[in-house]
Amino acid sequence: MDVFSRFKPSDLINLERYPLADKSCPTRQVVIQDIKRQLDTDGCAVLTDFLSPKGLSQLLAEAQERRPFAYFSEQKKTNVYFSEDDPSLPKAHPRRIFLDRTNGFVTGDCFEASTASRTLFHWSALKLFIQECLGKQSLYEYADPVADMPINVLTPGGQFNWHFDTNEFTITLLLKSATSGGHFEYAPNLRNESDECYEDVAAVLGGDKTRVKRLDLRAGDLQLFLGRFSLHQVTPNTGATDRLVLIMSFAEKPGMIGSLARTKELYGKVTDAHIQAQQHHVRADKLLD
Ligand SMILES: [Fe+2]
Repeated sequence: MDVFSRFKPSDLINLERYPLADKSCPTRQVVIQDIKRQLDTDGCAVLTDFLSPKGLSQLLAEAQERRPFAYFSEQKKTNVYFSEDDPSLPKAHPRRIFLDRTNGFVTGDCFEASTASRTLFHWSALKLFIQECLGKQSLYEYADPVADMPINVLTPGGQFNWHFDTNEFTITLLLKSATSGGHFEYAPNLRNESDECYEDVAAVLGGDKTRVKRLDLRAGDLQLFLGRFSLHQVTPNTGATDRLVLIMSFAEKPGMIGSLARTKELYGKVTDAHIQAQQHHVRADKLLD
């Protein structure tokens, strides 16, 4: 990918502090161990000033150029599990509490191979670094041309209310913070594999901040977050400008492509790759030829 780009990925990041490409550099190992410790402790690690000034200004400019193409799915109310209502439960149960959620994305297919954003996303040294931080045997970029590296747009008045993620980890780069509000908050390890801990979830939804941490994220910071067990939200953007985040989507298995229905709902479009993947899945499951 690099050959198509006029950007050198190492120029886009704060290489002195984060020497990703030099596997023999002791600083790289120290950084990885520090991130692993943070992830073990509460499922969240932040690499402050990860982007270089040049990298930040270029990635932000690319996101803003494409901002007119952002798709906003209908504002919906969701519970923290993204599940349907269950009228058999009491009204105060967390599964019955539905909160506002605003979703806007500039999709990955808006970024040509020559962009700095895509150059950084496809940089093998970055992928290997993240893989080591997460302690994974392998890591692959999404094969999904829409969802591989979308920009999440949080407009003034928008919010992304409390939820658990369905994916194990999320890698994001904050490109522009809100001038007011738009804070990332999370309650580390609020549930676990064997217990939904409904009472604890209900407490947070009811406004109890005892277990809630707020991150002071700044533009240029890289965040690694394990969102399956930590309830989290982005508070309402009370400023007058967008909050912009680049999401870099990786998976442990190759060929990750979103379903037709989910992709259409969230991003407002699908590509041939989605249609073919869907057909392939059906054939792989049902047919022998
Ligand atoms: Fe999330």
